[in-house]
Amino acid sequence: MIKKVLVIGAGQMGAGIAEVCATAGYQVFLCDTAQASLDAGFARITKNLEKNVAKERITTADKDATLARFTLITEMKNAVDVDLAIEAATENMAIKQSIFKQLDEIMPAHAILATNTSSMPITELAAVTKRPEQVIGMHFMNPVPVMKLVEIIRGLATKDEVYQAIEEMTHKLKKTPVEVNDFPGFVANRILMPMINEAIYTLYEGVASAEAIDDVMKLGMNHPMGPLTLADFIGLDTCLYIMETLYEGFGDSKYRPCPLLRKYVAAGWHGKKSGRGFYVYE
Ligand code: CAA
Repeated sequence: MIKKVLVIGAGQMGAGIAEVCATAGYQVFLCDTAQASLDAGFARITKNLEKNVAKERITTADKDATLARFTLITEMKNAVDVDLAIEAATENMAIKQSIFKQLDEIMPAHAILATNTSSMPITELAAVTKRPEQVIGMHFMNPVPVMKLVEIIRGLATKDEVYQAIEEMTHKLKKTPVEVNDFPGFVANRILMPMINEAIYTLYEGVASAEAIDDVMKLGMNHPMGPLTLADFIGLDTCLYIMETLYEGFGDSKYRPCPLLRKYVAAGWHGKKSGRGFYVYE
């Protein structure tokens, strides 16, 4: 029975995950080592809930009750009686492995350790713990409060009971779980990222402008955002990281990252969050 959740990382994804968990009635410890990120994440959550009050989706009492379910912490060890930890830290294997090692030491024996990684092998993260059968992938989509999907990724050793507990919780979060096995990019990014990468090649080869490429996919395929706008929204550093994971994981040249993507990332043009990607943001 999952009641208390620890969310690690108060960035775009972590704050969104914490918000949907608290909204669904779970007690949430939101942890970020940087106090400023923690405050910014909590401010975003508060703003979203206030917007929902203004739109009469929830009452002020609902908002206050949801906010009261939060405990903000800067050290994971200050989370107590946690049933589920969801890691949403930077996409870096060494950082995630270090977090999983610590979680394994400090979390109660029954606790499930989940990661929101977009493409890293769950099995490799599980292997640094003494409880690989309680490690699982829980991949939310951005923006978390809006998107309905949660990809649930079974590591090689993940127990059925653990899968079922996470599937049940996903329904309580009013999201749709989809079961996936542990292969590079899982399903979402194995299909999405090569499309984005191809859109970048299309720009790189001068076939069309960024606006034209996005218009084709928005108006012609009914995508809510064009692929280059979406890449800026996800973060070009994240897009490159996922392409590298696919390229390395499958050893197939069809996944090679576009040189223009590499160049933008090297320039610090990381998309919307850095003010510049395929488009310029004020
Ligand atoms: N947090 C919370 N709510 C948000 C939000 C955010 N960051 N961004 C938008 N919303 C809300 C808006 O407030 C609005 O809510 P209301 O209905 O209450 O007004 C609603 O979403 C619609 O927003 P807008 O009207 O401003 O704009 P839109 O209709 O264009 O929708 C969008 C915005 C939902 C982001 C839409 O453009 C979309 O679906 N884009 C594609 C998103 C996508 O593909 N996500 C997956 C990315 S890949 C990923 O996450 C996995 C990975 O590993 C990389």
